[in-house]
Amino acid sequence: MLKVIDASKNFKVASEYFHALKKVNLTVEPGCIYGVIGLSGAGKSTLLRCLAGLEELDSGKIIIDGVDISSLKGKTKREFKKKIGVVFQGYNLLMQKTVYNNIAFPLKIAKWNKEDIDKRVKELIKIVGLEGKENSYPAKLSGGQKQRVAIARGIALNPKILLLDELTSALDPLTTESILDLLNDINQKYHTTMVLITHEMNVIRRVCSKVSVINYGEIVETNDASKVLDNPQSDIAKMIMGRE
Ligand SMILES: Nc1ncnc2c1ncn2[C@@H]1O[C@H](COP(=O)(O)OP(=O)(O)OP(=O)(O)O)[C@@H](O)[C@H]1O
Ligand SMILES: [Mg+2]
Repeated sequence: MLKVIDASKNFKVASEYFHALKKVNLTVEPGCIYGVIGLSGAGKSTLLRCLAGLEELDSGKIIIDGVDISSLKGKTKREFKKKIGVVFQGYNLLMQKTVYNNIAFPLKIAKWNKEDIDKRVKELIKIVGLEGKENSYPAKLSGGQKQRVAIARGIALNPKILLLDELTSALDPLTTESILDLLNDINQKYHTTMVLITHEMNVIRRVCSKVSVINYGEIVETNDASKVLDNPQSDIAKMIMGRE
């Protein structure tokens, strides 16, 4: 279980503090695909970076499987981080490396041996449907293919939790569908818990069971995805629905 309790994050801009997250609370049940939706600048990526342990909260807690992640240090922190896979906004691929080596990268960092890396990378390439593209460089891939590489890299170490930031915002509707199908497949086969950040209601509709709506760093609505889709309560959810 992933629990975010009263999480706040401030950024110092000039001499002022900007409140990017204001007492955010979330409870993500194991195996679920949880959506966080909001407009640009709402604090979605900031939340994701805090969940990934890449930013520290100013106050509040993030509890994963009963462990407060801010209490972890050094090797224990590095080991724990392997439980969390991240697919960043905008692919974040290594442009000088092939598909194979992009996917192998987290395994190399985790000091896997060459044979195990080879076996796992081949398995991952199959899971994400990129057979034949092993030796291609990211510049030669379509947006959907790049996103598949990013997903393969995110799940390489078999994380219990996968954090996904704006996975489909740069993709056309058909490619979006295929990427969301892939997420559903991974969720069902490996019971990976997912926190998916988006500004598109369609993404919530297709894959999420629960959703929180974030606006100016605050969670303004949390409910079953079907309830938010059928009967949004917050102005911001109504506005996002109305735009689509
Ligand atoms: N390192 C930083 N220093 C100062 N301000 C920051 C920093 N990171 C984020 N912010 C600010 O915090 C707010 C939330 O940013 P964030 O990237 O979380 O938004 P977002 O919801 O992911 O937006 P988008 O949908 O455009 O990706 C923004 O106003 C942004 O300018
Ligand atoms: Mg963002």
